[in-house]
Amino acid sequence: MVGYAFMGAAHSQAWRTVNRVYDLPARARMALICGRDTAKVADAADRLGWEAYTTDWRDLINRDDIDVVDICTPGDSHAEIALAALAAGKHVLCEKPLANTVAEARAMTAAADVARAAGVRSMCAFNYRRVPAVTMMRQLVADGRLGVIRHVRAVYLQDWIVDPQFPLVWRLQKDRAGSGALGDIGAHIIDLTQFVTGQRISGVSAVTETFVKERPLPAESSGLAASVDGHAAPTGPVTVDDAAVFVARLDGGALATYEASRFATGRKNALRVEINGSLGTVVFDLERLNELEFYDATRPAVEQGFNRILVTEGEHPYMSAWWPPGHIIGYEHSFTHEMRDFIEAVANGVDPTPSFADALQVQLVLDAVTRSAELGSSWTEVAPALTAAAV
Ligand SMILES: NC(=O)c1ccc[n+]([C@@H]2O[C@H](COP(=O)([O-])OP(=O)(O)OC[C@H]3O[C@@H](n4cnc5c(N)ncnc54)[C@H](O)[C@@H]3O)[C@@H](O)[C@H]2O)c1
Repeated sequence: MVGYAFMGAAHSQAWRTVNRVYDLPARARMALICGRDTAKVADAADRLGWEAYTTDWRDLINRDDIDVVDICTPGDSHAEIALAALAAGKHVLCEKPLANTVAEARAMTAAADVARAAGVRSMCAFNYRRVPAVTMMRQLVADGRLGVIRHVRAVYLQDWIVDPQFPLVWRLQKDRAGSGALGDIGAHIIDLTQFVTGQRISGVSAVTETFVKERPLPAESSGLAASVDGHAAPTGPVTVDDAAVFVARLDGGALATYEASRFATGRKNALRVEINGSLGTVVFDLERLNELEFYDATRPAVEQGFNRILVTEGEHPYMSAWWPPGHIIGYEHSFTHEMRDFIEAVANGVDPTPSFADALQVQLVLDAVTRSAELGSSWTEVAPALTAAAV
């Protein structure tokens, strides 16, 4: 694994857990973790359960006994690490968004296609697909229970940079993160809604905004604390969007709205999706992730209403390995499910999903949103991926 902070910890917990919860055709061994700071990565290896640590990710590529490289770094290093790992015959799990640019995502997808021919697998880590209620939403749509999909309504809202004094961390720098709220959290609802509906976004009209354009440099990059002797800390420009809002058409005929913001005061990690079809509606709310609201319009009029389904039965996706019905699960379980699916696919010699090609298509939507916003919200078609891919 490369990176040991937020996603590094979340993925480590999943790698530690997955062998013990699921009966798998192969067992994960946590061999080597990489970070840039020796003391910190040594501590992380100990804390997170890795056998060894290194400060150079190339050590992962060079070790013959390593089969899988898990990329949990900011977007500016995804392409370089993934390309090297695939070329060395390592299966790759890469955090989202796949890359910082469409060009990088195309190169990664092309490399994944070449590697696949040699039995080397790759997957992008859109973990929310693996929340059981989300997987169940997809099944309801696929089974025709919603009929023809007319509307998709998706929001992903956070508020961690409302304070203008919040420092200019990597997520606020275009060269490190690619984009702001759009690629960080907007990418999740793009992938999730395309996964659930089986339809792809074909065109968009967007607005984006950077509300706070200058921020204090983080202490470690300026060499100063936020304020020293009453002097304000040096500042730098915010080069990404704080919020992105767009309308979209899906290729199956649905109309969709998306909102991704880091300025939704009070909303910590609020992901909500509603899908209206000719025969019913489903609603998912991450703050109540064990539940799904389902309105079945085929029921007799006197019985109609929104049903709250508690998605904890053994028959529900991923749930048979966990607890008795009604014993709920949480955010971190989505990562364990991700590792289960990845290990099963690699061991069984099939392609895991979402593939790099699927993630490239999300990148193309991000690009279309950015271009539309730059052109005064003009209608912008999503460019074709020019590669075989399945959502
Ligand atoms: N799936 C999700 O829900 C989710 C949530 C958060 C972040 N992410 C994604 O995960 C990735 C990492 O985000 P994060 O929140 O964990 O960031 P973070 O800042 O918490 O951690 C980044 C880690 O990468 C390390 N790192 C950076 N450059 C490196 C390099 N060249 N070599 C080795 N290590 C390096 C840092 O030291 C740190 O350990 C991003 O792509 C982000 O978009 C996904």
